[in-house]
Amino acid sequence: MVRLQGKTVVVTGAARGVGRACALAFSREGADLALLDVCGDVDGVPYPLGTVSQLDHTARLCREQGAAVLTATADVRDGAALRAAVDATLDRFGAVDVLVNNAGIVAPSGRTTHEITEDEWQVMLDINLSGAWRMISLVGPHMVARRSGSIVNVASTAGLVGYRHFAGYTASKHGLIGLTRATALDYAPLKVRVNALCPGSIRDDSAVEGRMLTEIARSLELPVGEHEQTFVQSQPMNALIEPEDVAGAALWLASDESRQVTGSVLTVDGGFTIR
Ligand SMILES: NC(=O)c1ccc[n+]([C@@H]2O[C@H](COP(=O)([O-])OP(=O)(O)OC[C@H]3O[C@@H](n4cnc5c(N)ncnc54)[C@H](O)[C@@H]3O)[C@@H](O)[C@H]2O)c1
Repeated sequence: MVRLQGKTVVVTGAARGVGRACALAFSREGADLALLDVCGDVDGVPYPLGTVSQLDHTARLCREQGAAVLTATADVRDGAALRAAVDATLDRFGAVDVLVNNAGIVAPSGRTTHEITEDEWQVMLDINLSGAWRMISLVGPHMVARRSGSIVNVASTAGLVGYRHFAGYTASKHGLIGLTRATALDYAPLKVRVNALCPGSIRDDSAVEGRMLTEIARSLELPVGEHEQTFVQSQPMNALIEPEDVAGAALWLASDESRQVTGSVLTVDGGFTIR
């Protein structure tokens, strides 16, 4: 069964990691894609973000699976760049059926709440929370006009529980769940669905070039292996999450198989938040 034939999906943060895994899963199911990424480093984010060549690589892999793909360099903090990317998507494909708000950062982190600077707080909230709101502001009206659409916000278990020394990240992901719930209520009568996904700790898979787990360990000044082991033990299924596990859940939320599901917060965390 090809679940997204004829649909257009916009994915932010698509150069690598979960964004790339989602793009691949969607293209396998017949979707056409608009892939957005900042494609460059951001002031105040202490690790390299995705690159143009990584975004192009994602696009190439999707095209190999038969998808038509548009790529755009756009920072989710930059409303004008996002508008240009959404306009180009609508010009090329005529509609947006699915929006995956995946772009996110995990650091600057690793400090007690009162040690976070104003700039560190702002960049975290601006990307992880306001970025999703900006995309919804641009894509939502088109979905509402068509009385059809699915928005998937990639939150985190940090949207459900606290993580010591990650107050900014935790607040941004709790905020994203709040944004999901309120927007789901606004849009429910208009037949646009909005859901949140909460992954647990994801393996840095070299095939998709994800690096968030490494950056979390670095923020905590822990060796990556030690940090991985902690999560393997604290996720009751005793495994890290694979990027495809998250992509599979995103695909279900995007597809008509979940047509009565809105405002939900779906964990993909090996049971981490059960207790
Ligand atoms: N990796 C994990 O363990 C984990 C767990 C839970 C939730 N998540 C969430 O999953 C999402 C994807 O994370 P990942 O693990 O693939 O990380 P990643 O760092 O490998 O990829 C994130 C992508 O987002 C892009 N991006 C960052 N800031 C951007 C901006 N301002 N504008 C546009 N693009 C931007 C980056 O360039 C990069 O390509 C994030 O929202 C993250 O919070 C990850």
